[in-house]
Amino acid sequence: MEHVILIGMMGSGKTTIGRIISRVTSRNFIDTDHLIEKKTGMSISDIINIKGEAYFRIVEKDVIMSLEPEAPSVISTGGGAVMDDDIFSFLKKAGKTVYLKASPDVLYRRTTNAEVRPLLMHGDRLEIIQRLLGKREPRYLESDIVIESGNRSPADIAEDIIKRLHL
Ligand code: S3P
Repeated sequence: MEHVILIGMMGSGKTTIGRIISRVTSRNFIDTDHLIEKKTGMSISDIINIKGEAYFRIVEKDVIMSLEPEAPSVISTGGGAVMDDDIFSFLKKAGKTVYLKASPDVLYRRTTNAEVRPLLMHGDRLEIIQRLLGKREPRYLESDIVIESGNRSPADIAEDIIKRLHL
């Protein structure tokens, strides 16, 4: 099944761009964080703040590895999900992975609502972003395509992805 799978850091635009691609191509849009919230009846912030990140990663893995959309869909994943090798292999098999690449400065500007980003709440946000990106980017770069999401509009980026994947 050829799904379009958006990966990248918090603030890289996965949800916004994913929604546009799904609208333009008439595909379903699946947001894995949203599925986790539905399954647990808790917000992502509450899961991480109350139950801890380790517990969140277990639920995240369970939710993603149980995905079986019937029709080709657009899937937006939480920024840390692909660091799990099983999840990454699963997603690579499920479709085309697209890394929405943005610099720490851009990600910093786009994550001002840190209260809904529990991993960015404690400490210097820019430093946390730089550290996470440094650790994650080698994995993100293993995606099928890499799209610079820097200074372009979400619609422009979505159009680029649609063209490059011949959707
Ligand atoms: C996380 C990103 C979040 C969410 C959780 C952890 C991460 O999703 O899954 O807060 O580890 O980068 P978004 O990337 O959609 O913000």
